[in-house]
Amino acid sequence: MPDSILLLEKDAAIATITFNNPKALNALTLEIFEGLETLFDDLESDTEVRVIILTGAGDKAFVAGGDISHLASLDADGARQFALLAQRVIDRIETFPKPVIAAINGYCLGGGNELAMGCDLRIAADSAKFGQPEVKLGIIPGFSGTQRLSRLIGKGRAKEMIFTGEMIDADQACRIGLVNRVVAKDCLMEEAKSLAMKMCDKSASAISLSKDAIDNGLEMDFARAARYEADLFALSFTTADCKEGISAFLEKRPAKF
Ligand code: CAA
Repeated sequence: MPDSILLLEKDAAIATITFNNPKALNALTLEIFEGLETLFDDLESDTEVRVIILTGAGDKAFVAGGDISHLASLDADGARQFALLAQRVIDRIETFPKPVIAAINGYCLGGGNELAMGCDLRIAADSAKFGQPEVKLGIIPGFSGTQRLSRLIGKGRAKEMIFTGEMIDADQACRIGLVNRVVAKDCLMEEAKSLAMKMCDKSASAISLSKDAIDNGLEMDFARAARYEADLFALSFTTADCKEGISAFLEKRPAKF
């Protein structure tokens, strides 16, 4: 894969990954998922980086889905392999120990929406459009979209989006909880970075443990999830950040994490 299909830019503690194939509306290939996995491996060990932002190049699309030219070449076995790779990489993003924000600058369709749903937070430009149009191609979402969409917006709404393949606009996506907020298109990256900055000066270990508690806890029954939270709460007391955060409060000074 040419490196330029995935761009990585670092600005202090914020790393921005840009899907950079605007001519094909940033559609996802096998190679892009492999490249993304490598980038996340590198970003995990990069101690400077605290928050990752994903966005799309061009003014039309975040990601318009899996690359349909690639899908055309797949048999059932190839389709399963593609789905399993994409699911693995999206799971990696979901369980990544640092926050990941999707800055959705346009079409967010099919595999693109499935990828965005693996991120912790989604901010949309007011011009963005969302959909799971797979049924129009005679296929179903394969990058865990049937599962994440139902969990995020509820079974009924997920079925409506998946069965009709219709797109919804950014305001509607916000109303149903698919995105956290909608901002003017020109302010999207500024807003995404400003949100990221609010996390950069907080405790990275506490954010990571909170992410673990929310994501893993939601897959458990309440009592088990609450015990799991207590275990992670206890773990947070073993960190240097806990010492620093609590001492700073008592000494009436800003904490330095
Ligand atoms: N894969 C490959 N190429 C794509 C693409 C995709 N998902 N989406 C758009 N493109 C390409 C188009 O073929 C076109 O290429 P050419 O200029 O070479 O013809 C270029 O991007 C621009 O697209 P359009 O001319 O169609 O732009 P438009 O503004 O008229 O329409 C659109 C925009 C409504 C998003 C339309 O492109 C579209 O419907 N795209 C397909 C969306 C889709 O079905 N996504 C789901 C894919 S399947 C999936 O994601 C499931 C999975 O893998 C698990």
